[in-house]
Amino acid sequence: MKTFILGQSKEQVFQMIPEKRIKLVQLGGEKICISRNGDAFFAFEPFCPHRMASLIQGTIVRNEIVCPLHQYRFDMQTGAVVSGQCPDLKVYKVELSDRGLAIWI
Ligand code: FES
Repeated sequence: MKTFILGQSKEQVFQMIPEKRIKLVQLGGEKICISRNGDAFFAFEPFCPHRMASLIQGTIVRNEIVCPLHQYRFDMQTGAVVSGQCPDLKVYKVELSDRGLAIWI
């Protein structure tokens, strides 16, 4: 497992990841989605585990990501399927600090 740091301060991270937006970032060899709901940040795989739709086009509702294709919903914290029947979404641990947003992959 590797640790990556986005930004160099909390303020910079808040500017990089606007509220309820989904940003695709490349960290090492992995592309992952980063999103934010208020002060809470989330990191997850970019393709829906149902039929691989791009979650970049998804909608954030509270702490859930809604897939644009069949509207399955996933908890962005745990990856659990909230609505629909498919494997869970792969999620990554994140932590915001004064040094930026740490992501463990
Ligand atoms: S591809 Fe995402 S819900 Fe079907």
